[in-house]
Amino acid sequence: MADTIFVLNGPNLNLLGTREPEIYGSDTLDDIAGQLEDRGRELGLTIDMRQSNHEGHLVDWLQEAQARGAKAVLLNAGAFTHTSLAVYDAIKSIKTPVIEVHLSNPLTREEFRHESYVGRAARGTIAGFGALSYMLALEAAARI
Ligand code: DQA
Repeated sequence: MADTIFVLNGPNLNLLGTREPEIYGSDTLDDIAGQLEDRGRELGLTIDMRQSNHEGHLVDWLQEAQARGAKAVLLNAGAFTHTSLAVYDAIKSIKTPVIEVHLSNPLTREEFRHESYVGRAARGTIAGFGALSYMLALEAAARI
């Protein structure tokens, strides 16, 4: 599993493509998975893409990433980014590097999005580039 990148997506990201496209773009999560898989193939990396609307699933999957020896996790925790101590603790509890990803740039949006528990624990953050944020995070994951 050392060549596997977990890509974990939190609440409402299953609606990408139709959800506020002026903010999040028109690519669906499946589109993004396809883009990551194509680039992953070139980099010799396997993409394990998941989405859940439930906080505990993200915690379980972060723990699983370490247990299965994943190379890195790309994590777009959606709104849990700004609220979840459980996700923060899970990131702190594993040695697997976690890269925080956002389509939008939360720092240019409402004040309640300015706090990021994920960002306080993650190795680094890529935000504001739409679907490209995931690709840039994959490039980073391949090099760390
Ligand atoms: C998001 C930003 C979050 O503030 C928001 O709650 C999301 C999506 C992004 O990718 O831009 O669900 O994580």
